[in-house]
Amino acid sequence: MTTPAGPYALAPDASAENPALSADEQQFNDLIAADSRIEPRDWMPEGYRKALIRQISQHAHSEIIGMQPESNWITRAPSLKRKAILMAKVQDEAGHGLYLYSAAQTLGATRDGMTDALIAGKARYSSIFNYPTPTWADMGSIGWLVDGAAICNQVPLCRASYGPYGRAMVRICKEESFHQRQGFEILLELMQGTEEQRAMAQESVNRWYWPALMMFGPPDDDSPNSAQSMAWKIKRHSNDELRQRFVGMLVPQAAVLGVTLPDPDLRWNEDTQQYDLGEIDWAEFHEVLAGRGASNAQRLQRRRDAHAEGAWVREAAAEYARKQSERSAQVAS
Ligand code: 3HC
Repeated sequence: MTTPAGPYALAPDASAENPALSADEQQFNDLIAADSRIEPRDWMPEGYRKALIRQISQHAHSEIIGMQPESNWITRAPSLKRKAILMAKVQDEAGHGLYLYSAAQTLGATRDGMTDALIAGKARYSSIFNYPTPTWADMGSIGWLVDGAAICNQVPLCRASYGPYGRAMVRICKEESFHQRQGFEILLELMQGTEEQRAMAQESVNRWYWPALMMFGPPDDDSPNSAQSMAWKIKRHSNDELRQRFVGMLVPQAAVLGVTLPDPDLRWNEDTQQYDLGEIDWAEFHEVLAGRGASNAQRLQRRRDAHAEGAWVREAAAEYARKQSERSAQVAS
């Protein structure tokens, strides 16, 4: 982890009262040290505000772009039951995006500003959503691996020091947990099916396993934001710790499914009491972050088109709000 610089670098130590700090700064440090929550009207360092806006807006964008790989399959899902489940799941992701945009708005970010940055290609969203979904089994792999990784990363965020973010994460995690189980169940059904269905499930797991591990972000020694975010208790665990925890969860679940995790170097290490993992292809991760993944261009174009197609809805809502406030003003006068 890179050590951050600046006046608020690393852990605020409440026990060491620093006469150079203002009363506001001292109170902020005390709240963080006491594992209490920072609320929108509390004083906060600019770096803390920016770090939160960065992470929460990226997270919101991930939820919104993350609707695309699965919504592709709503019309092609193999049964009415599967269509209904998939539709509900994609709607949940839209809801997650809205809670998170709202949390970022409490920090002073505007919804228009965040949306503009996304459609201009200037904002980050999770690398995982730049991979295509050519088979039905991909709906299973996304639920099991992608939503599974999301839960592993996001349950600790329920304890994030910023109140609106932590509270939004509680509801999001409940829904993600359902998503993960429905993905597992799709794969289980395929693995109990024909030879062809089992092969389709395994092929899909092979494609999603490594990108799912990349969701946790770069290795700790190459993660510029982790140290400060952990000192501020936005993040509670490092990227590598969570990745390791995720693989530990996956191994017994893969055995139940009967799928193989596509890592020939994966083995239990008695000394460390965790799994040794094979090498992650970080060059691929950086290519995707640079906008050169298989589906980056398509995802962004679809988002731009949807935004343009929704212009009339935004205009109608604004006009309705204007008329409502005109009416209220007339009644009041
Ligand atoms: N995809 C895209 N960008 C990534 C990334 C990934 N998988 N992992 C890291 N990055 C980016 C970071 O955003 C950062 O970019 P920036 O400095 O330009 O903002 C840079 O790479 C360096 O990474 P760091 O480790 O220093 O960054 P963080 O400390 O922020 O850690 C994180 C990255 C673990 C993703 C953290 O931001 C986090 O926990 N975010 C909240 C969870 C989230 O955003 N999840 C998205 C997953 S998808 C989802 O939730 C949808 C669900 O339906 C599946």
